[in-house]
This record gives sequence, structure tokens and C-alpha cells, in this order.
Amino acid sequence: MDDLVSLCKRRGFIFQSGEIYGGLQGMYDYGPLGVELKNNLKSAWWSSMVYENDNIEGLDASILSNPTVLKYSGHEDTFSDPMVDCKSCNSRFRADQLDKNICPNCGSEDLTEPRPFNLMFKTNVGPISDGSSFAYLRPETAQQIFTNFKNVVDSSSKTLPFGIAQIGKAFRNEITPRNFIFRVREFEQMELEFFVRPGTDEDWHKEWVKKRLDWWEQQGVPKDNIELYDVPDDELAHYSKGTIDIMYKFPHGLEELEGIANRTDFDLGSHTKNQDELNICAKTKHNNDSNSKLAIKEPHMKDWVVPFVIEPSAGVDRAVLAILNEAYHEEQIEDSSRLVLKLKPHLSPIKAAVIPLKKNNPEMVELAKNIKKQLQSKGLGRVLLENTGNIGKSYRKHDEVGTPICITIDFESLEDGSVTVRDRDTMSQERIPKENIEQYFLTYF
Ligand code: GAP
Repeated sequence: MDDLVSLCKRRGFIFQSGEIYGGLQGMYDYGPLGVELKNNLKSAWWSSMVYENDNIEGLDASILSNPTVLKYSGHEDTFSDPMVDCKSCNSRFRADQLDKNICPNCGSEDLTEPRPFNLMFKTNVGPISDGSSFAYLRPETAQQIFTNFKNVVDSSSKTLPFGIAQIGKAFRNEITPRNFIFRVREFEQMELEFFVRPGTDEDWHKEWVKKRLDWWEQQGVPKDNIELYDVPDDELAHYSKGTIDIMYKFPHGLEELEGIANRTDFDLGSHTKNQDELNICAKTKHNNDSNSKLAIKEPHMKDWVVPFVIEPSAGVDRAVLAILNEAYHEEQIEDSSRLVLKLKPHLSPIKAAVIPLKKNNPEMVELAKNIKKQLQSKGLGRVLLENTGNIGKSYRKHDEVGTPICITIDFESLEDGSVTVRDRDTMSQERIPKENIEQYFLTYF
């Protein structure tokens, strides 16, 4: 993990937030390359959900949440971790993460009894801060999907099965944030709520587990490094009838990368009006506040149905960590070593680097600029003009940040219009006419 963290800082992927003032625990900032990687990853997820499935629509809802939403979702009552305090050094820990009843900080056995600690952040809304008007920072993106259910159904004429996908920030006041970006207090989620006819939910659950494993493989996280964990009943979230966690071998151990839950009709059933008229299976709190019927009438059916929900929910930050971990390679070449990030090209922060051999040669630089412009216009992501005049250093840098191809312009290029292309993974170089560059570039994506 240390090598990865150091690469992330050195090359501008991820920084500790507010580092110049000592940092803020559980918060990280994505630098110039990190933001590109993260955007590419989110766009791969969005394409695989929204663009490839005509029965999935997107949503981008607010982060600040009306407390009533989180009352009926069950988060006010149940979204907590057991916390203990060390009476000697005042450190706080999650009781379920302690090996023995010993403080990992000072070794004292004098700990308080575990007590529930609600993980939601609160903030004031409006100019008065007397606590009468507050909102929660959402602890998951899912709830706004449920509260917008009718809006989306009415505006897009959906019939079952269909889904609503959302990517966005979520916030949890984790007792012990740790392991770099694995467990943080501000993070992003990519969540799909897939609404299905009751009775078909278990088949859809299996189907989504399969689909998600294939997707992770396409992002460079192979099935060999994944284990599925069928969450036992006593560990299930309050809304779940069954959850399969996709567990990945992170540098610090096997941990959850994504959860795929069968949320039954709990959420729609909790947020709907007229609960008594609907055949709701889950145990829900009686709702007097909702003004919307969160049910659907199927064509040719006379009854309203409260759909069941299958929810694949992945963390963007954990995804970035897993993808970087898989891509990170240290290779021995003859008497030296090289560090290379073998990212899938669609995820690479920089798609190609165009490098003039001499930085002060106007013709070379002009040709390089034209090639950069031409490749940039393909809309596949960032193409960089790397005008340092040091080919060896440029290759090393682009290996380390995962750029799939380097294109070098030299004296020969000015004479016969050919350029050298170098492949990141094989380091093989070939000479191609500049007219073929676009076609060559496109074969990577
Ligand atoms: N809507 C369901 C839900 O939020 P979850 O298992 O609590 O379920 C889903 O979270 C995913 O969000 C996790 O699999 C993980 O990838 C990510 N996640 C959860 N808590 C996180 C944290 N504190 N830091 C980073 N990622 C987190």
C-alpha cells in the first residue's frame, strides 16, 4: 500500500485533503490525474448502466437530505456502528473491529461499553442555527432514487423491470477511517436501484451479481482476485433480504468493494402513502407524511404493485484503489527497474503523449501540436503534448501514470512524415506514417 500511496502523491493522483494545515482525517483530494481516472471510471459505469440498457435512466439528486427521508428509510434509527472509548487515552474505536478488548493505541483494557454511534452528518439549513432546521448529508445516494421514483416513472413511462442509476457523493462519520481511500468520511457511490416484479427478485439478484463481476473484469479487476460473500442474516442491513458482497483482495486484506442487495419493497414501501392499500411485504414504519404513491400499475393488470429492488452499490474510491492496485507493476529490465501502471486504456488519465525529440525545434513542435489536436478531437480523453525535450524521462513518467501510447516526433518525421509509437506494456516501438496515427490510436480504445 505504501508504494501505491507514494505514487499517487508523486504523480498527482490523490492528496491528503487540507495537507498544508495538517490534513483532515478520512478526506482525500483527487489531483490532476486522479480526477481523470475517476471520471473515466464513472463514465465506464454510466455507459454500462444507462447507455447500454434502455430500461435504465439516470438521476443526479441533491446531497442535502430532508430528515424525514432518512427517518422513513430507517437510517435515523439504525445507521450506526458500535463505538467504544478508551478511558486511558480517549481514543475511539469501532467495537466490532477490535481483536480483543484492548485499546490498539495505548494497550489499556479500560474501555467503555460499546454504544451505538449514528454515522450521519448533520448541517443547518437557512440562516437560523438553533437546530430547528437541519438536513443530513446523505449517507447513501439510494434514498433520493426512491423518493424520485414516481417522477421518473411518470416522466419516462417505464414498466417493470427498470432501473434508476446515480453517481454521487455520500458522507459517513466513520469512527475509524483508514487504509488510504478505502474507508473515508466523504466518498462517491455508483448505485443502481433496479425495480422488479415481486417473485422475480431472486433471479434478478443472481443476474446482477454476474453482470457486475463481468464489469469489474473489464475495468482490470479479475475474478481471480475477487470472492463473493453471502452476507449472513445477522449481518444484513435493516432493508435487506439478502446481500452478496463482492470482496476484493485489497493491499490491506480481503474487503468489500461492492454490495449487491435485495432491498425487497422496503424502501418504496416505507416512503409511500396509502401503505394499507398496498400489498407491502417488508416491515415498514407507518408513514403519515408522504404525498406520493410509490407503486406501479402494470399494463393489463388492475392492481398496483410495489416493486422489489435489486441494488448493486459500488464505491468509486474503493474502485480507484482496486484498479490502481491491479495496474501497479514493478518490472526488472536488464540492470534497471521500471514502474508501470497497466491501466485499461479507457481508464488511463492520459490517452497518448506526443513528444517532440527537441523542445526547441519549431517544426517538430508544430507537427506534435497538430497530432495532439487531431487525436484530442476524437473525444476519448486527454492527449498531452509533452515538450520536455527528454525522451527517456517522458517515457518513464508516462509508464508510471499509465499512458498507453507515446508518439515521438524526430528529425526523420520532418523528412518522411513517419513517427515512432511506443506501447506502454510491451515497450515495443514501431515506425508508422503520420497518416496512420489516428487509426493506430483508435485501436487502443
Ligand atoms: N446503498 C447501499 C449502501 O450504501 P454500503 O455497503 O453501505 O451499501 C456501498 O455501501 C458501497 O459504498 C460499499 O461497497 C463501498 O464500496 C462504498 N463505501 C461504503 N462506505 C464507505 C466508506 N466509508 N469509504 C469508502 N467507500 C465506502
